[in-house]
Amino acid sequence: MENYFKPETICIQGGYEPKKGEPRILPIYQSTTFRYENSDEMGKLFDLEAEGYFYSRLQNPTCDMVAKKICQLEGGTAALLTASGQAANFYAVFNIASAGDHIVSSATLYGGTSNLFTVTMKKMGIEFTLVDPDAPEEEIEKAFRPNTKAVFGETISNPSLVVLDIEKFARLAHRHGVPLIVDNTFATPINCRPFEWGADIVTHSTTKYMDGHAMTVGGCIVDSGNFDWMAHADKFPGLTTPDDSYHGLVYAEEFGKTAYVQKAVAQIMRDLGSCQSPQNAFLLNMGLETLHLRMERHCSNALAVARYLKSNENVAWVEYPDLEGDKYNGLAKKYMPKGTCGVVAFGLKGGRETSIRFIDNLKLAAIVTHVADSRTSVLHPASHTHRQLCEEQLIEAGVKPDLIRFSVGTENEEDIIADIEQAIAAAVR
Ligand SMILES: Cc1ncc(COP(=O)(O)O)c(C=O)c1O
Repeated sequence: MENYFKPETICIQGGYEPKKGEPRILPIYQSTTFRYENSDEMGKLFDLEAEGYFYSRLQNPTCDMVAKKICQLEGGTAALLTASGQAANFYAVFNIASAGDHIVSSATLYGGTSNLFTVTMKKMGIEFTLVDPDAPEEEIEKAFRPNTKAVFGETISNPSLVVLDIEKFARLAHRHGVPLIVDNTFATPINCRPFEWGADIVTHSTTKYMDGHAMTVGGCIVDSGNFDWMAHADKFPGLTTPDDSYHGLVYAEEFGKTAYVQKAVAQIMRDLGSCQSPQNAFLLNMGLETLHLRMERHCSNALAVARYLKSNENVAWVEYPDLEGDKYNGLAKKYMPKGTCGVVAFGLKGGRETSIRFIDNLKLAAIVTHVADSRTSVLHPASHTHRQLCEEQLIEAGVKPDLIRFSVGTENEEDIIADIEQAIAAAVR
């Protein structure tokens, strides 16, 4: 499908284009293997000399067609699905960094990503410097080192709802000859297309809005094709020097604008194997078909909830980037003029204990370790997703101890607000 189609059309018809007599609906290629006529044909696939499927750990047609749809939505050149958002973020960084390397990342991150970067990847010898995303450019500049290989940030951070100044981060990354990787999970390409603002690689936890129904865990990495690896060849030997495991192939020379994803598939997916199943990719695709409709409703419902909370005398604070007067309203209007996401953060007067009582009294909204799907849900990050972080780390990650992460679904707006109203009344009693 050509890139001149609008996102709404791509959501429905992108990625898979059936030919005469083929099924109208994306087929599930439930097969680990693919048949070939002779040994030479198969050999060429192993040498990356020919294109084709041979083993679903590396590539599967259903998964590839869904990755292609997400790639079209983001305006990229190549994409791959992964088993989870965690795998996507790990692969995205590990594809260009190894032991002895360094990454600059915004400190406002999803708790799992923060743990991945500062605990697990640290053990692998990759060091991360977490920076305040709102700090002036000159301040963030100081975090860079000669061995810095990438810059990382979330378009809208989970759960602190900090809107990343993508242009600022892209400028910093490019001044140091490294790519900007942006986790676009919360905004989705319906509300923000980070490549248009200078990001080089985009990642997703497709588990969230993209699936939208809390049915499948998954992830995706998309390459813009814009970063010139050869211009910074000394920093990225994995892409610009021969790969011994493929008879000396040089990814950047062989694959040009798709080199980054080709390497991630051929090396990292081959060796680590966090692939998405074709069944899950099929379900993800069903979610993608309504992404544009759901995001609109998530955003209008969330804005109504945020406005209600702002007017409630028992609410201590509310953060929602689309809310008039919010600290990030300016950046939200610039990068996401159609709306941001369906997640609202707030705290109740009475602090942490009152916030927990509120959550326990909700009836329509359920306590689940999830966010960003059609059903309204709630979580207390300091007690749940971010409970591994100490008080100081919580503050650094922008997670206040009383923060309630309220994920507004696509149900009726008045029903959601009525549930909040009765739970607040019960919590403050
Ligand atoms: C912004 C963000 N990135 C990555 C992840 C990890 O994704 P997954 O749970 O699919 O592994 C999450 C999960 O909540 C997230 O919110």
